[in-house]
This record gives sequence, structure tokens and C-alpha cells, in this order.
Amino acid sequence: MATAASTASPLTLPPLPYPENALEPVISAKTLSFHYGKHHKTYVETTNKLIAGTELADLPLEQIVTSTAGRPERTGIFHNAAQAWNHTFYWRCLKSKGGGEPPAALKQKMEEAFGSVDACKKELSAAAVAQFGSGWAWLVLEGSKLKVLKTADADTPITQGSRPLLTLDVWEHAYYLDYQNRRVDHVNAVLDKLANWEFAAQNLSK
Ligand SMILES: [Fe+2]
Repeated sequence: MATAASTASPLTLPPLPYPENALEPVISAKTLSFHYGKHHKTYVETTNKLIAGTELADLPLEQIVTSTAGRPERTGIFHNAAQAWNHTFYWRCLKSKGGGEPPAALKQKMEEAFGSVDACKKELSAAAVAQFGSGWAWLVLEGSKLKVLKTADADTPITQGSRPLLTLDVWEHAYYLDYQNRRVDHVNAVLDKLANWEFAAQNLSK
């Protein structure tokens, strides 16, 4: 008979929302294959190993992230679970033939907070480039206002009281094969050609 611990559902790696070559030429199939198939997969598998037999084993991923944040004895679980969550969110922030004009409701929020869509993109790009070492840049909703944040390593706004709308992964594994050290070129190409503003707008109206 299964015990309580063994009946816990392991977390699964969600399918990519598009084929691995869908984001070319901005992000190559090779980068996506390693990034999703190795890095993201390993974060999910490691989280499963680390939560097995703990009080976290039956929780949804988001709750594992929020309940381990800031707990030094759970740092390993937090890092892997947060990276699993961030990546699942990140894939949905990108799409083939993205970029362009955001939906009206999002565009209006961007204009309120930053002055224009371009100014919002510039601030996101600047945050992504300024993040020292590995991390993420985020467009978030804080209260009723849009804001740009950057987080280090696995850190994620879902533990900080703001709602992510869109993210950019600026770990080197996200761009090094295609852009080497040119993070700024990668970030600007993603914002101009792959950003899924429809997904960001859906997050706004949740
Ligand atoms: Fe990544």
C-alpha cells in the first residue's frame, strides 16, 4: 500500500508552449533545447528530490516557493522551486512574432507608469542589463501601478507582494550560445520580436 509520502504527486515539467525552433532567429533551437530540456527540467527534478518526504511534498509549486522564501534551512528547495516557477512563467512571456503594440489596457497602464510603451521597454531593458550576474528582469503590477524590478539568481516577485506580468531571463544560459556576452542585444531583440504582450495583459486582468 502506498504511504502518505509516496502518494504525493511529483511536480512535472510543463510542455513548452511552442516548438523549440519557434523563437528563431532571436533564440536558437539549440539554446531553447538546453534551456528548457536541461536547465528547466533539472530545476523540476531537483525540487522533487528535495521535497520528497517533507511537509512540502504535496503542495503546488507556487506554494512551495512562497513557503520556503527567506528560510535559510530551505534555501536549496527555494532556489530550485523558484527557478522551476520562473521558467514556466518565462516561456509564456515569449512567442513567435511577438513584440509590437501591447493590448490597449496594458498600453494604457504602461503610459500611466512610464510615459510610453517605449519608455517601459527601455526601463525593462535597463534593468535586465544592470542585473549583476544571474537573475531576472520583471514587469510587475504593484497595487494598481506597473513597475520594473530586477531579481538576483532565483528570486521572484511572487514572494514580494507584486504580480508578475512579464519576465526576461538574464542568466547566461538564456543567451550565451547565441549572443555570448552581448546581453543587451539579446534583451532588446526579445523585447522587440518575442515579447508576448497578450500574455502580460492577461496577467494584468487576473
Ligand atoms: Fe533560465
